Amino acid sequence: MRGDGSEVAFKEVVPDVPREAILQGNRSGNDDEQKRRDDALRPRRLSEIIGQKAIVEKLRIAINACKKFKEPLGHILFDGPPGLGKTTFATVLPNELGTQLQMTSGPALTRPADLMPYLTNATEGSILFIDEIHRMPRAAEEFLYSAMEDFRVDFVLGDGINARTISMPLKRFTLVGATTRSGMLTGPMRDRFKMHEHLEFYSVEELAQIVTINARKLNVTITPEAARELASRSRGTPRIANTRLWWARYYATSEGDGTITLDVCKAALEMSGADTLGLDKQDRRYLETLIGVFEGGPTGVEALAATMNLAQDTLADEIEPYLLREQLIVRTPRGRVATRKAYAHLQRTPPPGPGLLFE
Ligand SMILES: Nc1ncnc2c1ncn2[C@@H]1O[C@H](COP(=O)(O)OP(=O)(O)OP(=O)(O)O)[C@@H](O)[C@H]1O
Ligand SMILES: [Mg+2]
Repeated sequence: MRGDGSEVAFKEVVPDVPREAILQGNRSGNDDEQKRRDDALRPRRLSEIIGQKAIVEKLRIAINACKKFKEPLGHILFDGPPGLGKTTFATVLPNELGTQLQMTSGPALTRPADLMPYLTNATEGSILFIDEIHRMPRAAEEFLYSAMEDFRVDFVLGDGINARTISMPLKRFTLVGATTRSGMLTGPMRDRFKMHEHLEFYSVEELAQIVTINARKLNVTITPEAARELASRSRGTPRIANTRLWWARYYATSEGDGTITLDVCKAALEMSGADTLGLDKQDRRYLETLIGVFEGGPTGVEALAATMNLAQDTLADEIEPYLLREQLIVRTPRGRVATRKAYAHLQRTPPPGPGLLFE
């Protein structure tokens, strides 16, 4: 990436970030600073995307075919926990296709009329990206059905006896939806997507590769051991790896000679609250609540959320997926249960007896 002017562009888009913002990080990417950081480090082309190999390959084939057919790409839905690359994939597509991109999000589309400017501005083959598509109100969603299927919208003009239904043709665009909750989409909506891609957490090797590339973009030297350490403590999530790299770069510059060595990396991670498994304060609070208050479970997500004073969505979308994948908790029909690994991680003694079945 160096030598292509990316450093210059980067300096323009990313102002200095307050230390607190970096330390806290942000998994959902809603914060303005976080957005700017995401944009600065976001891959621009399919070939720059690390990991998610199966999805990259499918997209490459689909793009290739559509270029040959000279027809728009089918609608695509990306789902998965925050920070795994849904927006990245959506923004890479128009670069590969050489088309335009329009971006909006579900909660911003309060009425069907809010969709009209996007639909009428869509050019042939362009991408309309709707983030958090599961949060789009039902009326707007239903309005999209015919736009997606027949590239046409129907609306009623006037009322009473003078009411007329107008059918307006649209250009054949591609809708790209992103959601952390594909289960919350209605069946008809899900069925209208030609491709449905689920993003998985990244391996340590993949994250180390991302960290190394992004360190170069940020003009900081990181040793391979430090890149691996940082990667292994980033919850399998590129956005968290980026946030931690950002902090390590500050730490190395202030407390060392600017190079992120293994020692510098460990000290920086310690300070940012990332433990040896890469869990942050909120993850540990979840485990402490489950073990300390609910004696390891089983307990329902409602009770956990109420005790932690957090929204159920935050627990289910942002905290639990990684704890499940790391087998620190399991989901049973009766609720969440802490595993022996969770007890060991918090240095607590598991209750005696056969109660805990999970290793
Ligand atoms: N496959 C990847 N290769 C390299 N970097 C990646 C990849 N996926 C994500 N990233 C990095 O992580 C950052 C966050 O990714 P992105 O914004 O696409 O996540 P998201 O899934 O849209 O999250 P959210 O659900 O919060 O919107 C990107 O800016 C990019 O730097
Ligand atoms: Mg996103």
